[in-house]
Amino acid sequence: MAKPKFYITTPIYYVNARPHLGHTYTTVVADTIARYKRMRGYDVVLLTGTDEHGQKVERAAKAAGVSPQEFADRISAEYRALWRELDLPVDRFVRTTEPRHERAVQMLFRKAQDQGYVYKGGYEGQYCVFDEMYVDEPLSGNLCPECKRPTERVREENYFFKLSAFQDRLLELYEKQPDFIQPDTRRNEVLAFVRGGLRDLSISRTSFKWGIPWPGEEKHIFYVWSDALTSYMTGVGYADDEVEFEKYWPADMHLIGKEILRFHAVYWPAFLMAAGEALPKRVFAHGWWLFADEKMSKSRGNMQYPQPIARVLGIDALRYFLLRDMVFGQDGNFSRDALLTRYNSDLANGLGNLTSRTITMIEQYLGGRVPARNPKEENDRDREVAELQRGTCEEVLRYYESYDFSRALESIWSLIAEIDKYLVEFQPWVLVKEKSKWGRLEMVLYTAYDALRVVTLLAHPVLPHATQKIWEQLGNSTPLASQMLGNDLTVGHKQGGHVNKPEGVFPRVDKKEAFERIEAMEEEIRNPASTTPAASGSTAGAAPAGAAAGPAKIGIEDFAKIEMRVGVVKSAERVAGADKLLKLLVDIGEEVRQVVAGIATSYAPEDLIGKKVVVVANLAPRKLRGVESNGMIVAASVAPDGRPVLCTFTEDVPAGARLK
Ligand code: MSP
Repeated sequence: MAKPKFYITTPIYYVNARPHLGHTYTTVVADTIARYKRMRGYDVVLLTGTDEHGQKVERAAKAAGVSPQEFADRISAEYRALWRELDLPVDRFVRTTEPRHERAVQMLFRKAQDQGYVYKGGYEGQYCVFDEMYVDEPLSGNLCPECKRPTERVREENYFFKLSAFQDRLLELYEKQPDFIQPDTRRNEVLAFVRGGLRDLSISRTSFKWGIPWPGEEKHIFYVWSDALTSYMTGVGYADDEVEFEKYWPADMHLIGKEILRFHAVYWPAFLMAAGEALPKRVFAHGWWLFADEKMSKSRGNMQYPQPIARVLGIDALRYFLLRDMVFGQDGNFSRDALLTRYNSDLANGLGNLTSRTITMIEQYLGGRVPARNPKEENDRDREVAELQRGTCEEVLRYYESYDFSRALESIWSLIAEIDKYLVEFQPWVLVKEKSKWGRLEMVLYTAYDALRVVTLLAHPVLPHATQKIWEQLGNSTPLASQMLGNDLTVGHKQGGHVNKPEGVFPRVDKKEAFERIEAMEEEIRNPASTTPAASGSTAGAAPAGAAAGPAKIGIEDFAKIEMRVGVVKSAERVAGADKLLKLLVDIGEEVRQVVAGIATSYAPEDLIGKKVVVVANLAPRKLRGVESNGMIVAASVAPDGRPVLCTFTEDVPAGARLK
């Protein structure tokens, strides 16, 4: 019998900025769901991609001095490279600048137009370029109610979509399919919005050019959201491959962040109804990762990147943290300290330690032979643990079914803790000393082995790499991903087989050292000019695209917050182990500061003494390669490799003079 299909999508990400931890979160969740569904016997397709049209991207490209296509090519490549680096296999990647996508968008809206749901009109009102959204009721000062940024006046001829005609049908959809929007709190928000009445929506733009052309029109391009949403169909063959489209459409789940729910739960089903296409089965809106209580975003400049975490702690540690520390659907605060604490306690001391001690004991006490259950030696406590194991399986599968990963992991880790306790209780290292207790020894090791086997199966969707290694250490040679996850978890107990050499899966880390390494790599991604050798890795580290994604405009009051002063270099030396960093002592008038600068590739330390430099004096202190830096030296980053060139003055200036 053919496998049932499961088609899951992430949002297609804007290419105005490089990928950060927030985008990574969504793709990691989608990948975890995909892996889980595969282990439940589904034929899974996961789609992601890049949203490359629209005013926001056009402007970002302009600011970077390149064409929108060139700009989109760079950032889109960066997304693909990141998903590869993080081993997030993507089945379908759609770029909205592909010809197949253009065909899909034009076809979908032609169908809607043929049904009489599209008409020509004129729009005059406010538009938020950041959210690529028409704003009917701006806040005072014409600010966008969503992102609080200034909106712009737009007056243009447009095609309109008769959204107003869909109010009743949408309400009926939410009623008949109560799980169409998840979680429930989000569903209520949408219900309230739709009940409040729907206005027709402008779905073409004429005031700029970066978009899909409207057939038969010279000036009209598709509104970026009508363009972007259609990518979910493009990816499975709409307008291109009927067989494929029949097989996978409609999507089983659109996984998105909560800020784009309205587009997915209101506009998208209405577009599809108008065109006579099937509706997706579910829209799941998750919460945000916050950093210091604010949403991570390029314009706030508080993004965290996934690569440093993955490179220092491993991909699985990144996945574990993202899924364990955020209750799916709610917001979560990101903290590097919490990440490292979790790593050491749950992964190194928890799963890692249980694995190495269980496998080592089996090697040493049983000559590596996989322990067998011995009913004669079984006591109530063993039965209690076996019962807990069964209960954990049921519970975890239930949580996975509702995508409640943090609870699923909590439940798996309770079993790990229980086995740790059990081993301390029965002390195999004491039992082994008396031959008469060897039967009991085997029963105790059996219990631990079997629990570890079940933990490995259950944790696989979240920790695909570590669990595969553990699976092999348990004596299995088949890929863990090909195992079925069901209520009968008897697979993988290799009766009569042998365990393989224990190998550390999550080595303990020194928190302080790991913190500094992650920070140094973050810094390099944020600011490629201060490249340190530790940070030079693949993808984002090497790509200059972030520099190209020009910063948002700021007001003079924001500029005034930056205190830049003339400094005179008093001493300079290399930072051990970092061939791009120099440690400088700089006189900035009132004091002498220690500043670490990534300029060693352009300047020898001795040539800097007495030089006048520009210092950002009110930057919060931070450590680079373990050396405290109290400020930043300003340098131009010169293409193609970001070579730093210091600023100089044409006339003599005193140390401490402020730059304005
Ligand atoms: N291009 C649109 C989506 C079109 S889908 C047809 C877009 N792109 S985006 O680049 O801004 O990506 C937004 C998505 O990235 C969010 O919906 C969410 O999935 C993810 N996240 C971005 N920042 C995030 C956090 N800080 N936390 C969690 N997820 C975040 O909107």
